[in-house]
Amino acid sequence: MLDMYCKTTSPQAMAGSFRGYAQSQPAESDEELARICPGTPAGEYIRRFWHPVYITEELGELPEAVRILGEDLVLFRYGKEGDQIGLVHKHCLHRRASLEYGKCEDRGIRCCYHGWLFAPDGEVLETPAENSKTADTLRKNTRLGAYPVVEFRGLVFTYMGPPEQQPEFPVYDACIYEDMTSVAYKVPYRCNWIQVLDAIMDPTHTTYLHSRNSHPQFSEGMKADGVLNFYERYENHFLGSATRRVGENIWVRVNELILPNFTQAGSAFAVDGTQQCYFGRSCFTRWVVPVDDENSVVYAWANFGNRWDPHQFNTKEGHEMIEQGEILDRTPQEKKRFPADSEAVEGMGGISTHKFENLMPTDRGIALYRKRVRKQIRDLVNHVEPPQPIKSGGSFIKTYGQDTVLTLPPRNGEDDQAYLARVGAAVMDLQFAVEDWDDENRDTEIIRRLKELEADDVV
Ligand code: FES
Ligand SMILES: [Fe+2]
Repeated sequence: MLDMYCKTTSPQAMAGSFRGYAQSQPAESDEELARICPGTPAGEYIRRFWHPVYITEELGELPEAVRILGEDLVLFRYGKEGDQIGLVHKHCLHRRASLEYGKCEDRGIRCCYHGWLFAPDGEVLETPAENSKTADTLRKNTRLGAYPVVEFRGLVFTYMGPPEQQPEFPVYDACIYEDMTSVAYKVPYRCNWIQVLDAIMDPTHTTYLHSRNSHPQFSEGMKADGVLNFYERYENHFLGSATRRVGENIWVRVNELILPNFTQAGSAFAVDGTQQCYFGRSCFTRWVVPVDDENSVVYAWANFGNRWDPHQFNTKEGHEMIEQGEILDRTPQEKKRFPADSEAVEGMGGISTHKFENLMPTDRGIALYRKRVRKQIRDLVNHVEPPQPIKSGGSFIKTYGQDTVLTLPPRNGEDDQAYLARVGAAVMDLQFAVEDWDDENRDTEIIRRLKELEADDVV
């Protein structure tokens, strides 16, 4: 009788197979990794590293409010030429006016309300309306909160941890190529930093989110499933390789993460597996920086040149496509038809309900790095400082984000997936073997060994 009036699309309803009710219980996030505001264990951990917080050329003559790691700060220029940069707590020491309305001066920033002047290290230089012992005592004993700043290749970096633990400013090999053009960009994400970071250790999403489930957002060849391999080096450097068969060629694409939040990959558009390529390098050099628990921002350099992406993508829209496969400014309908990383990771909510995840073998890179982050957070609670990026030879931190395409056709009578796995591993092993070479010769030697591997075909 009911069938005459009511069209049911869920015939199993009566069989009790629906679990919506059972799974509607309050969900839990992985608080230990996700919460980074001041005073949290992960917050303490992430404050042990340098992070980019602004694009230099976007900082004009006026101060700018910046929110990073759950703190409200103000970035400002000072000095005769305005070429020095300071970063201080947003609210004035006196009665909490916002210093984003302050005046930038030679010696620091002056509060708009009663004119107190602060040096970039937070020292109270002047309290003009106060000529009292109280003011003298305050100037001697109290400082505005401030953080050290390094301006480097178009990005403003800061270190927000305890001064006695301040590490050396890290310079990666990606910064030394003379034939590369690098341009700073930023992309905000409305969700927790772990959600954004996960994607770099998830080469599988490139095949689905960026290829098969919409249209080829990057190069065409990415729609093939890759044979995955994951590596952990020095307890803070994680690599995920995806090795694909493209006709007669084998394409090894490598994503990387250096804890806590430095990431690189292969190219976005330059390589599709059809042309040989020997140690082509990352389309971006990028940091996933927590703004607060439910917001993040990616600061990065987009990289262009013969071993990187083509110069034609060196536009605002091109940087957005390199970052996430699509431009940012799209209609809700476009976002549904052609979702990009923003939709995938923001759709999980401000902080994902990790308890309801079901991690699979393809997620083992994610499981691996989260486990290590958790260990380092717990170690720090026990006063063991986390490792900083390693210089394993030469002056710069060596990275592996890349594409390599070798002409190695399938072998008669041999399982091609197993062959791909061996070639992928061999491509990585030959790079690990020259890890401690000096900066100039390492790339040349890697390329020589890759060509040798291709010519000898003995894997
Ligand atoms: S509130 Fe800043 S000087 Fe008074
Ligand atoms: Fe992605």
